[in-house]
Amino acid sequence: MAKSHITFRQLEVFQEVIREGSVSRAAERLYLTQPTVSIQLRKLSTLLGVELIEYRNNQLQPTDEGLMLFAASADILARLKELENGIDQIQIGSRGRLSLAIVTTANYVVPKLLGMFGRMYPEVELSLFTGNRQEIIQRYMRQADDLYVFSQPPADPDVLTLPFLKNPLVVIAPKNHLVTEKRSQTNFEKLSQERFLLRESGSGTGGSFQNWLSRNDHLLNNTLTVASNEGIFLGVASEMGMAVISEHVIRSRKESVVELEVKGFPIEGQWYLARKRQTRLSPVAKVFVEYLREHLESLEPDYALEIPHKWAPYSLL
Ligand code: PGA
Repeated sequence: MAKSHITFRQLEVFQEVIREGSVSRAAERLYLTQPTVSIQLRKLSTLLGVELIEYRNNQLQPTDEGLMLFAASADILARLKELENGIDQIQIGSRGRLSLAIVTTANYVVPKLLGMFGRMYPEVELSLFTGNRQEIIQRYMRQADDLYVFSQPPADPDVLTLPFLKNPLVVIAPKNHLVTEKRSQTNFEKLSQERFLLRESGSGTGGSFQNWLSRNDHLLNNTLTVASNEGIFLGVASEMGMAVISEHVIRSRKESVVELEVKGFPIEGQWYLARKRQTRLSPVAKVFVEYLREHLESLEPDYALEIPHKWAPYSLL
């Protein structure tokens, strides 16, 4: 018989016998009969081809080989215990991998939400991918991640969503711009001759603004494309033009630009968690959604939405 026939039970029995220094006490502790323990010990000894215990001065002692087996079986059983605990943690979602892919606007909020999540669940390995809407849709299509964050989820009949945070789009202008002197609400017509910095094609923010313009019959004829929120923010701060941008981009640095009060703004938007209907939501992803449900209000009191309990197709919202 090969060594590979050794069972975990035999190792447990051997551990107990050595720890107790007695077959009968080990049997008692393991709720086994003394002959069963003796048989297991003998089997183990036969499988390894060596004596494992000996009696000196009437005392049960491990032989040198027994001592080696004692150390090895302690390691093996501890690793097995770790494995059992690890599997339990994965199943309840407090351990495992969580991959999120989020649109660039959400990059101003989601890392902060992940910070606390990471501290609460240190055994969860997090990865975060950021891209514009088009890029994140591509990741969604190949199901590269567990959860996605969009303002406008993909036009896929199988997408399931949960709204969770407000994402208002506001008009910003350089600090010293003439229109910023008037405190009252402005009509967009008054701004339509201004130069606007627009997001690249594929951007959800850019798309929402374009939709707003066409719904309201406005045409901009002086525009410049800048392919990031940060580029747009810095461009406006350095007086390159105006822009429509997620309020989250300017939240912590409102002194660099001016948020204008414009009729029809902010464009009310919200971010959704999204996933594909057919894919199983991993236990960690479930724990993350529960974490948001519980902590969003205190982390983002001005923007948190009450997260529904049921994932819903986007088209029905
Ligand atoms: P994006 O983000 O402009 O980077 O594509 C869009 C969104 O908020 O959905």
